[in-house]
Amino acid sequence: MSSAPASATPRLALRGPALTFTGDPCVIGPAARHYESDALLAMADGKITHFGPAEALRSHLPPGIEINQQGQDTLMMPGFIDSHVHFPQLPMIAACGRPLLDWLHHYAFPTEQKCRDQEYARSVAKIFLQESLRHGITSACVYSTVYAASVDALFEEAEKLGMRLATGKVLMNRNAPQALLDTTQSGYDESKALIQKWHRRSRLSYAITPRFAPTSTRDQLEAAGALWKEYPDCYMQTHLSETKAEVAWVKQLFPERKNYLDVYDHYSLCGPRAVFGHGLHLSEAEWHRLHQSGAAIAHCPTSNFFLGSGTFDLFRAINPARPVRVGIGTDLGAGTTCSMLGTLNEAYKAAQIHGQALTSSHAFYVATRGTARALYLDDKIGSLAPGMEADVLVLDLKSTPLLEYRMRFCQDLEEALFIQMTLGDDRAVLETYVAGRLVHRRGDPAAPL
Ligand code: GUN
Ligand code: ZN
Repeated sequence: MSSAPASATPRLALRGPALTFTGDPCVIGPAARHYESDALLAMADGKITHFGPAEALRSHLPPGIEINQQGQDTLMMPGFIDSHVHFPQLPMIAACGRPLLDWLHHYAFPTEQKCRDQEYARSVAKIFLQESLRHGITSACVYSTVYAASVDALFEEAEKLGMRLATGKVLMNRNAPQALLDTTQSGYDESKALIQKWHRRSRLSYAITPRFAPTSTRDQLEAAGALWKEYPDCYMQTHLSETKAEVAWVKQLFPERKNYLDVYDHYSLCGPRAVFGHGLHLSEAEWHRLHQSGAAIAHCPTSNFFLGSGTFDLFRAINPARPVRVGIGTDLGAGTTCSMLGTLNEAYKAAQIHGQALTSSHAFYVATRGTARALYLDDKIGSLAPGMEADVLVLDLKSTPLLEYRMRFCQDLEEALFIQMTLGDDRAVLETYVAGRLVHRRGDPAAPL
């Protein structure tokens, strides 16, 4: 049982079974998983003030506090975190039948062009955030489009909801339709103005966002690196080694560099708070450099399967000899679901293809505290403890007839979690809280959002 040092008086608490991680189960073993069969979690001013066994904690809470009692077949946990997602692509999720580079030209680029109209971009941003919250995703590192107005739209909507979110203007000055191109100078200037407007405002952070090496000239990558040096606590997000055709193209475009990662590294785009999407076809030298630099990979399994890009080797990434930080990403619109449970399901299958079993503890760790760590946010989000920001979700463990039936045969928590990540979807998310405020209650149109 614990409480925050000096805190505001909590007026709302959740009571019921709860799960959180105190560390990485792959590093410290099963003790990393902290389960309370009857927990109390109290919140004030956006933070968790108390978390622990209800019996012991009850008397420490103020008398009039509202206690939201959850059922026995529920599970409170930290909100899920998405480390790689493209909000403007939501209108073309589930576009059939092409590998990455064709898919970009046929579907992603034309759809992103529509975000030139800010009101359209705002309408997509609203649906995207609503869908995220409906699926229990309370924080995300998001690609906007090349248009600064689309960045403003997403930041404004996320700020209204009180979400912790990072995004940035896509930098792209070649190999894309004219309407989506910026220039080295305009990309730098617009990104800088957005940083000055949004970075560290409310719970928002800016992510410097060169789309990927093939759509930026050397000049533009250099300018992005210079900007990151000016604002080193921003994120830097891009794509890395997603498909073999892309890797070959990068080799052709940058023959002077040792490997794909070295293109970014050369322009000072590799280090803590760099988030590289995918990382499927990396050499050992690249893994070493990722480890040494403190950069992270965003594992995007549904997208990797959907585009036929390959399968991420999670266990190679976290090799204890040189572990690399790994977050999980839905990667909409190449990703095929907003569901983090569905994304973990596919992460399990990707690991199977590499002959490894992803345990449910490991998977739920990655979707919460692990991704927080990849984003250098594990002191703020990703776990339940006093002082952490109060982003919480409540799962219903029997959300469908099949889940209700399957759960009758369930022996323990590890199995229950595995069943959820294999069979669960948005229906499993009963409630979502952002900064201590209820933002989604399943089936309740009157819920605040
Ligand atoms: N590589 C460059 N841009 C993109 C994108 O929008 N989606 C995916 N999956 N890969 C990319
Ligand atoms: Zn992506």
